[in-house]
Amino acid sequence: MAKFTESISFDRRLWRHDLVGSIAHATMLGCIGVLTKAEAKRIVAALEAIGDDIEAGRFTWDESLEDVHMNLEAELTRREPAGAKLHTGRSRNDQVALDMRMWLRDEIVELELELRSLQQALVALGQANDSIVIPGYTHLQRAQPVYFAHHLLAYVEMIERDRERLLDAFSRVNVCPLGSGALAGSTLPLDRNQVAAMLGFEDSRGRPVVSQNSMDAVSDRDFAVEFCFVASLLGVHLSRLAEEIVLWCSRPFAYVRMPDAFSTGSSIMPQKRNPDAAELVRAKAGGVIGALGALLVVMKGLPLAYGKDLQEDKAPVFETAKTLSLSLAAMAGMVSGM
Ligand code: ARG
Repeated sequence: MAKFTESISFDRRLWRHDLVGSIAHATMLGCIGVLTKAEAKRIVAALEAIGDDIEAGRFTWDESLEDVHMNLEAELTRREPAGAKLHTGRSRNDQVALDMRMWLRDEIVELELELRSLQQALVALGQANDSIVIPGYTHLQRAQPVYFAHHLLAYVEMIERDRERLLDAFSRVNVCPLGSGALAGSTLPLDRNQVAAMLGFEDSRGRPVVSQNSMDAVSDRDFAVEFCFVASLLGVHLSRLAEEIVLWCSRPFAYVRMPDAFSTGSSIMPQKRNPDAAELVRAKAGGVIGALGALLVVMKGLPLAYGKDLQEDKAPVFETAKTLSLSLAAMAGMVSGM
């Protein structure tokens, strides 16, 4: 049972966000008098010390404690008995929704920068070859001459729309679910706006953004599905460009020469310069699209509110973010050195 239900092996990467969320919650409980100021202060100090230990590799995760939330809470309570009061007015159900939202926010910010880098690499390649004319194709038959830059800038546009979709999704990720409890909220006078403001859940005018319905907040993952969809479409765009690069590297086309750093050889044919990175970008888009499907299917039969099924949101979301980040770096590297 422990092996089957644990999530610590993959959700431990949420530890920073879990600690920051707990620090905000403890601070708020101190302000509304559920914790004394001294207790809140000691809890915050202990949480910060735990963070230092994890950072330094001095923390041992325990599978029997199931997930990142229980591991951190158990350690907190070992160090600071008042830590047992931290979970007042909070459940793992709103806590995990919070952590996922904060983790995704950071990923989106990173991805957005990586998208810009790729756009810049495409523009630079076009600029460096601004007099080069290549055949433009329809039906993969030579159709009309076009500037190579014209062709590259088509991808800059696609990626620009992916960027816009990502930033649009951010506004729905950036909603604070704390205060929802297990599903029915709390009778304590929790200051949800204070927690939201402390954690950066604010709209463009700096007003705190909190979820409106506690049952919705703990049981939907549409914000994660949306991220996976935006990622899938981006994956499709990257895969199309990757396919073109594979063609352009191939002898009958021979439009580009792949930089050495992104060419691979063969153990038996020393003349080969294989475009492995482009092929992998093309293939890995399949995994990203698959993750979107997996997440949608996990969600489709779930009654309100939380069900353990929702723990299965993590692998698709984590894998998607990691794969995209690597694919974008590989693509930018290929384009820059092409
Ligand atoms: N590890 C769980 C998840 O990722 C955390 C929430 C667990 N809540 C519960 N009631 N069992 O979804």
